[in-house]
Amino acid sequence: MLGLRRAGTLVVRPVGPFDLGRLARLHRRCFSEPWSRADLAHLLALPGGFGLIARIYEGGLGGLDGLRGVGFAIARVTRDESELLSLGVAPPWRGRRIGAALLLAAMERARAAGAGLMFLEVAVDNHAAQALYKRHGFETVGLRPDYYQRADGSRIGAHTMRCELDRALVQSGGAPLGAPLSAAAGPAS
Ligand SMILES: CC(C)(COP(=O)(O)OP(=O)(O)OC[C@H]1O[C@@H](n2cnc3c(N)ncnc32)[C@H](O)[C@@H]1OP(=O)(O)O)[C@@H](O)C(=O)NCCC(=O)NCCS
Repeated sequence: MLGLRRAGTLVVRPVGPFDLGRLARLHRRCFSEPWSRADLAHLLALPGGFGLIARIYEGGLGGLDGLRGVGFAIARVTRDESELLSLGVAPPWRGRRIGAALLLAAMERARAAGAGLMFLEVAVDNHAAQALYKRHGFETVGLRPDYYQRADGSRIGAHTMRCELDRALVQSGGAPLGAPLSAAAGPAS
């Protein structure tokens, strides 16, 4: 299978038991308050918890070494609702629709598990993430003052956003999994 992939192909897969280290490294590259391997393992082990990892096939002879981890999503389904707990794309790979692919894959998986809604919190100054979520059917439904603590000890509020999964997924046309990236295969910087 791997030998048939083209360089630059994005693959989004469920996080497996050997991905924890990769996931923790990616999280550290995306957030100033990184979650430890233990934190991540705990979240993934919660009832309904799941993680997705995005990897880019960079060529080679078809071995696993040809796949570079570039992003992740962590979510949880509780009955008919779900929550996006974290989403990140490593800085050199941003702006190539990898975040969108991960978000859509998480939405699809949550819907497949029976969720009709997805909720998330996003810092009020995180305009890139807010734009991504709005573009994929999320709307702001609340404000949580002082929700996040920053590395310097300061606090910042978060918007709560909500999405109706059926409607948003129909509008989005599904996750573009397994498709070559539209942008150049290499990192932006
Ligand atoms: C937010 C994040 C996941 C976006 O990932 P990405 O792969 O760069 O995003 P995409 O390329 O898929 O962008 C999809 C859409 O999001 C919006 N978007 C993404 N980055 C943006 C930016 N810097 N400014 C404005 N809009 C942006 C756009 O609407 C974009 O659609 P377009 O390309 O058609 O304009 C990434 O910036 C990241 O990891 N940030 C740090 C961690 C973080 O803040 N996570 C979210 C916590 S709630």
